[in-house]
Amino acid sequence: MKINVIISPPNVDELYFTGKTTVIIDVLRASTTIITALANGAKEIVPVSSVEFAMKASGSMFGGQTLLGGERNTKMIDGFNLGNSPLEYIPETISGKSIILYTSNGSRAIVKSKFSENSIICSFQNLSAVAHYLVELNNNVEILCSGRNGVFSLEDTICAGKLVTELSSLATDVELTDSSLAALTLAKSLGKNLKKMMTESEHGKILIENGFEEDIKYCSKLNTIPIIPIFSANVIKILQHPKTEAVPTSET
Ligand code: MLT
Repeated sequence: MKINVIISPPNVDELYFTGKTTVIIDVLRASTTIITALANGAKEIVPVSSVEFAMKASGSMFGGQTLLGGERNTKMIDGFNLGNSPLEYIPETISGKSIILYTSNGSRAIVKSKFSENSIICSFQNLSAVAHYLVELNNNVEILCSGRNGVFSLEDTICAGKLVTELSSLATDVELTDSSLAALTLAKSLGKNLKKMMTESEHGKILIENGFEEDIKYCSKLNTIPIIPIFSANVIKILQHPKTEAVPTSET
Protein backbone atom coordinates (compact mmCIF):
# COMPACT_ATOMS: atom_id res chain seq x y z
CA MET A 1 0.00 0.00 0.00
CA LYS A 2 1.53 3.27 -1.12
CA ILE A 3 0.43 6.25 1.00
CA ASN A 4 0.75 9.82 -0.21
CA VAL A 5 -0.20 13.04 1.59
CA ILE A 6 -1.20 16.13 -0.38
CA ILE A 7 -0.74 19.08 1.95
CA SER A 8 -3.09 21.43 0.11
CA PRO A 9 -5.63 21.07 -2.78
CA PRO A 10 -3.95 23.46 -5.29
CA ASN A 11 -1.01 21.03 -5.43
CA VAL A 12 -3.02 18.73 -7.70
CA ASP A 13 -5.65 18.85 -10.45
CA GLU A 14 -9.03 17.16 -9.91
CA LEU A 15 -8.24 14.60 -12.62
CA TYR A 16 -5.31 13.43 -10.50
CA PHE A 17 -7.83 11.58 -8.29
CA THR A 18 -9.40 9.55 -11.11
CA GLY A 19 -9.92 5.96 -9.94
CA LYS A 20 -8.00 6.51 -6.68
CA THR A 21 -8.83 5.93 -3.03
CA THR A 22 -8.82 9.39 -1.47
CA VAL A 23 -9.22 10.49 2.14
CA ILE A 24 -10.21 14.13 2.66
CA ILE A 25 -9.34 15.90 5.91
CA ASP A 26 -10.48 19.28 7.23
CA VAL A 27 -10.22 18.92 11.01
CA LEU A 28 -11.15 22.60 11.67
CA ARG A 29 -13.95 22.19 10.95
CA ALA A 30 -15.67 20.84 7.83
CA SER A 31 -14.80 17.15 8.09
CA THR A 32 -15.53 17.10 11.84
CA THR A 33 -18.87 18.83 11.17
CA ILE A 34 -19.80 16.34 8.42
CA ILE A 35 -18.96 13.34 10.62
CA THR A 36 -20.95 14.82 13.52
CA ALA A 37 -23.97 15.67 11.35
CA LEU A 38 -24.14 12.16 9.90
CA ALA A 39 -23.69 10.52 13.31
CA ASN A 40 -26.51 12.72 14.61
CA GLY A 41 -28.95 11.57 11.95
CA ALA A 42 -28.55 13.85 8.92
CA LYS A 43 -29.74 11.99 5.83
CA GLU A 44 -26.84 13.19 3.68
CA ILE A 45 -24.43 16.06 3.14
CA VAL A 46 -24.11 17.73 -0.25
CA PRO A 47 -20.71 19.49 -0.38
CA VAL A 48 -20.51 22.37 -2.85
CA SER A 49 -17.69 24.60 -4.07
CA SER A 50 -19.50 27.95 -4.18
CA VAL A 51 -22.17 29.83 -2.24
CA GLU A 52 -24.03 30.50 -5.48
CA PHE A 53 -24.23 26.78 -6.21
CA ALA A 54 -25.42 26.12 -2.64
CA MET A 55 -28.30 28.59 -3.17
CA LYS A 56 -29.18 27.04 -6.54
CA ALA A 57 -29.06 23.48 -5.17
CA SER A 58 -31.27 24.36 -2.18
CA GLY A 59 -33.85 25.91 -4.55
CA SER A 60 -34.12 22.65 -6.46
CA MET A 61 -34.52 20.46 -3.37
CA PHE A 62 -37.52 19.94 -1.09
CA GLY A 63 -38.09 22.87 1.30
CA GLY A 64 -38.17 21.80 4.95
CA GLN A 65 -36.09 18.70 4.23
CA THR A 66 -33.02 20.67 3.21
CA LEU A 67 -30.76 22.94 5.26
CA LEU A 68 -27.97 25.21 4.08
CA GLY A 69 -24.85 25.10 6.25
CA GLY A 70 -21.33 26.47 6.18
CA GLU A 71 -19.17 29.51 6.62
CA ARG A 72 -17.23 32.31 5.06
CA ASN A 73 -14.39 33.67 7.20
CA THR A 74 -15.63 31.32 9.97
CA LYS A 75 -19.04 33.07 10.12
CA MET A 76 -22.47 31.83 9.03
CA ILE A 77 -23.43 33.03 5.55
CA ASP A 78 -26.49 35.30 5.05
CA GLY A 79 -29.52 33.23 4.10
CA PHE A 80 -28.02 29.98 5.47
CA ASN A 81 -29.65 27.95 8.28
CA LEU A 82 -26.46 26.81 10.00
CA GLY A 83 -22.84 27.84 10.37
CA ASN A 84 -19.90 25.42 10.37
CA SER A 85 -19.64 24.63 14.07
CA PRO A 86 -20.05 20.88 14.64
CA LEU A 87 -21.83 21.77 17.90
CA GLU A 88 -24.74 23.23 15.91
CA TYR A 89 -25.42 19.93 14.15
CA ILE A 90 -27.55 18.34 16.86
CA PRO A 91 -30.27 15.72 16.23
CA GLU A 92 -33.13 18.16 16.99
CA THR A 93 -31.99 20.40 14.13
CA ILE A 94 -30.64 18.07 11.49
CA SER A 95 -32.15 14.62 11.89
CA GLY A 96 -33.45 13.29 8.56
CA LYS A 97 -32.34 16.42 6.68
CA SER A 98 -30.19 16.85 3.59
CA ILE A 99 -27.55 19.48 4.32
CA ILE A 100 -25.96 21.48 1.55
CA LEU A 101 -22.55 22.49 2.86
CA TYR A 102 -20.25 25.24 1.64
CA THR A 103 -17.01 25.99 3.50
CA SER A 104 -13.94 27.99 2.52
CA ASN A 105 -11.64 24.99 2.15
CA GLY A 106 -13.15 21.65 3.23
CA SER A 107 -16.24 21.34 1.03
CA ARG A 108 -14.21 22.49 -1.96
CA ALA A 109 -11.51 19.86 -1.31
CA ILE A 110 -14.19 17.16 -1.14
CA VAL A 111 -15.70 18.28 -4.46
CA LYS A 112 -12.21 18.21 -5.96
CA SER A 113 -11.92 14.50 -5.10
CA LYS A 114 -15.07 13.62 -7.07
CA PHE A 115 -13.35 11.42 -9.67
CA SER A 116 -11.97 9.08 -7.01
CA GLU A 117 -13.07 5.47 -6.91
CA ASN A 118 -13.43 5.80 -3.14
CA SER A 119 -13.71 9.19 -1.46
CA ILE A 120 -13.72 9.06 2.35
CA ILE A 121 -14.14 11.90 4.88
CA CYS A 122 -11.83 11.80 7.92
CA SER A 123 -11.10 13.80 11.06
CA PHE A 124 -9.63 12.86 14.45
CA GLN A 125 -13.11 11.67 15.47
CA ASN A 126 -13.22 8.71 13.04
CA LEU A 127 -9.52 8.21 12.29
CA SER A 128 -9.17 4.63 13.45
CA ALA A 129 -12.39 3.48 11.71
CA VAL A 130 -11.09 5.00 8.45
CA ALA A 131 -7.69 3.31 8.88
CA HIS A 132 -9.31 -0.11 9.33
CA TYR A 133 -11.54 0.43 6.30
CA LEU A 134 -8.54 1.43 4.17
CA VAL A 135 -6.74 -1.75 5.17
CA GLU A 136 -9.77 -3.75 4.04
CA LEU A 137 -9.82 -1.92 0.69
CA ASN A 138 -6.08 -2.58 0.33
CA ASN A 139 -5.56 0.09 -2.33
CA ASN A 140 -2.94 2.81 -2.54
CA VAL A 141 -4.13 5.85 -0.58
CA GLU A 142 -4.10 9.58 -1.31
CA ILE A 143 -4.68 11.73 1.78
CA LEU A 144 -5.88 15.18 0.75
CA CYS A 145 -5.50 17.86 3.43
CA SER A 146 -7.87 20.78 2.87
CA GLY A 147 -5.30 23.21 4.28
CA ARG A 148 -6.15 26.87 4.58
CA ASN A 149 -6.47 29.29 1.70
CA GLY A 150 -4.44 27.03 -0.56
CA VAL A 151 -1.55 26.40 1.80
CA PHE A 152 -0.41 24.02 4.54
CA SER A 153 -2.35 23.70 7.79
CA LEU A 154 -0.88 22.13 10.89
CA GLU A 155 -3.98 20.33 12.17
CA ASP A 156 -4.85 18.66 8.84
CA THR A 157 -1.28 17.48 8.28
CA ILE A 158 -1.06 16.08 11.82
CA CYS A 159 -4.37 14.25 11.34
CA ALA A 160 -2.95 12.86 8.06
CA GLY A 161 0.24 11.87 9.92
CA LYS A 162 -1.74 10.00 12.57
CA LEU A 163 -3.63 8.16 9.84
CA VAL A 164 -0.31 7.24 8.18
CA THR A 165 0.99 6.01 11.55
CA GLU A 166 -2.05 3.79 12.12
CA LEU A 167 -1.99 2.45 8.57
CA SER A 168 1.72 1.67 8.92
CA SER A 169 1.01 -0.48 11.95
CA LEU A 170 -2.07 -2.23 10.47
CA ALA A 171 -1.09 -2.87 6.85
CA THR A 172 1.69 -4.89 5.35
CA ASP A 173 3.98 -3.62 2.60
CA VAL A 174 3.41 0.05 3.35
CA GLU A 175 5.35 2.48 1.18
CA LEU A 176 5.54 6.13 2.23
CA THR A 177 6.15 9.09 -0.03
CA ASP A 178 8.29 11.97 1.29
CA SER A 179 5.16 13.95 2.25
CA SER A 180 3.56 11.04 4.14
CA LEU A 181 6.83 10.44 6.01
CA ALA A 182 6.96 14.15 6.88
CA ALA A 183 3.33 14.11 8.10
CA LEU A 184 4.04 11.02 10.24
CA THR A 185 7.11 12.69 11.76
CA LEU A 186 5.16 15.88 12.51
CA ALA A 187 2.35 13.89 14.14
CA LYS A 188 4.89 12.17 16.40
CA SER A 189 6.27 15.46 17.67
CA LEU A 190 3.17 17.71 17.79
CA GLY A 191 0.30 15.23 17.83
CA LYS A 192 0.42 14.19 21.47
CA ASN A 193 -1.84 16.94 22.79
CA LEU A 194 -4.30 17.67 19.98
CA LYS A 195 -6.18 20.44 21.77
CA LYS A 196 -2.97 22.31 22.60
CA MET A 197 -1.66 21.87 19.05
CA MET A 198 -4.89 23.24 17.55
CA THR A 199 -5.13 26.10 20.06
CA GLU A 200 -1.66 27.20 18.92
CA SER A 201 -2.37 26.75 15.19
CA GLU A 202 -3.19 29.69 12.90
CA HIS A 203 -6.73 28.46 12.25
CA GLY A 204 -7.25 27.65 15.93
CA LYS A 205 -6.33 31.21 16.90
CA ILE A 206 -8.82 32.62 14.38
CA LEU A 207 -11.58 30.36 15.72
CA ILE A 208 -10.82 31.45 19.29
CA GLU A 209 -10.92 35.14 18.25
CA ASN A 210 -14.36 34.47 16.78
CA GLY A 211 -15.70 32.76 19.92
CA PHE A 212 -15.35 29.12 18.81
CA GLU A 213 -12.99 27.82 21.52
CA GLU A 214 -15.40 24.96 22.34
CA ASP A 215 -15.15 23.77 18.73
CA ILE A 216 -11.40 23.22 19.14
CA LYS A 217 -11.99 21.08 22.22
CA TYR A 218 -14.63 19.08 20.33
CA CYS A 219 -12.54 18.70 17.15
CA SER A 220 -9.58 17.37 19.16
CA LYS A 221 -11.48 14.26 20.35
CA LEU A 222 -9.94 11.07 18.98
CA ASN A 223 -11.93 8.07 17.74
CA THR A 224 -15.25 8.95 19.35
CA ILE A 225 -17.39 8.61 16.18
CA PRO A 226 -16.42 5.39 14.38
CA ILE A 227 -18.29 5.95 11.12
CA ILE A 228 -17.08 6.01 7.51
CA PRO A 229 -18.60 8.84 5.47
CA ILE A 230 -18.37 8.18 1.74
CA PHE A 231 -18.68 10.88 -0.96
CA SER A 232 -20.26 9.37 -4.05
CA ALA A 233 -22.63 10.71 -6.74
CA ASN A 234 -22.39 14.24 -5.23
CA VAL A 235 -23.54 13.30 -1.72
CA ILE A 236 -21.86 12.11 1.49
CA LYS A 237 -23.53 9.28 3.38
CA ILE A 238 -22.47 6.84 6.09
CA LEU A 239 -21.14 3.59 4.69
CA GLN A 240 -23.31 0.84 6.07
CA HIS A 241 -20.56 -1.33 7.38
CA PRO A 242 -20.84 -4.16 9.90
CA LYS A 243 -17.81 -2.96 11.88
CA THR A 244 -18.99 0.63 12.43
CA GLU A 245 -21.82 2.17 14.38
CA ALA A 246 -22.87 5.78 14.89
CA VAL A 247 -22.20 7.37 18.26
CA PRO A 248 -24.39 10.42 19.03
CA THR A 249 -22.57 13.68 19.76
CA SER A 250 -24.17 14.03 23.19
CA GLU A 251 -22.23 11.02 24.39
CA THR A 252 -18.87 12.16 23.03
C1 MLT B 1 -12.98 25.41 5.98
O1 MLT B 1 -13.55 24.71 5.12
O2 MLT B 1 -12.07 26.16 5.70
C2 MLT B 1 -13.30 25.33 7.44
O3 MLT B 1 -14.18 24.36 7.73
C3 MLT B 1 -13.48 26.70 7.99
C4 MLT B 1 -14.07 26.77 9.36
O4 MLT B 1 -15.28 26.83 9.50
O5 MLT B 1 -13.36 26.78 10.36
